[in-house]
Amino acid sequence: MIQTGAEIEARETSGAVQILHLRAPELATRLSPGQAVLIQTGWGYDPYLRRTFYPIAIQEAGFSIRLPLDGDRGRAWLRLARLGARLDCLGPVGRGFALPPHARRILCLGQGDAAWTLLPLVRQAASQGYAVTLATETATRRQSIPAAMLPISVEYHIATTDGSAGRKGDLRALLPELLPWADAVIAAADMAFYRQLGRAIEEMRVLLPKGYAQALYQMDFLCGAGACQACAVDIAGGRRRVCLRGPVFDLVDILR
Ligand code: FES
Repeated sequence: MIQTGAEIEARETSGAVQILHLRAPELATRLSPGQAVLIQTGWGYDPYLRRTFYPIAIQEAGFSIRLPLDGDRGRAWLRLARLGARLDCLGPVGRGFALPPHARRILCLGQGDAAWTLLPLVRQAASQGYAVTLATETATRRQSIPAAMLPISVEYHIATTDGSAGRKGDLRALLPELLPWADAVIAAADMAFYRQLGRAIEEMRVLLPKGYAQALYQMDFLCGAGACQACAVDIAGGRRRVCLRGPVFDLVDILR
């Protein structure tokens, strides 16, 4: 993990959501999909705690973060920061997703805002010649990832709970159709969905094998370096610091 500056290069807005493109070559070259970056969101020590971001794009010279509208003071400061401002960043935090060398067909499953954290992995997998299917579940069409942001080769399924795009309902209905196709599964969702996913894989394959599914345990970090213990949770058979052992885990370890 390094501490470095990131310059706000560009800002896109889509409704109330902002996407910031940050220039930080030193950090970008170390960053993998699924890893987090901690950003200071103020000029001094107010607010004192850095905010945690899971980049939605990673390029050679920088990365992008998404800012949905919420009541957080730190993120509000970022929404107003001027272009060219230099942000103090710590990262990358923890372990990210790893494309399994034995697999050719990757199924990515994302729920709500967490689905956006899969974007760098989806792009990386498609560029390396994997067959990729992305299935997401959001409340409304506005929250879903626009198809134009995906590589053309990616098969994309959307479920929305209000039925405003794709299939009405949640991701569970898509699993029987999509799981038999996949050599490997990558997921960013909540614990309830991970339990359903584990059961669906067991129904299809009799057991949930290690190495078949990776899952993001998304959380905010304080230090990101294993020092404060604030991220310790019961996972992988014991009390673990997510900033060191995760935030990406084998699904078997998440459910253990
Ligand atoms: S965030 Fe401090 S130990 Fe993980």
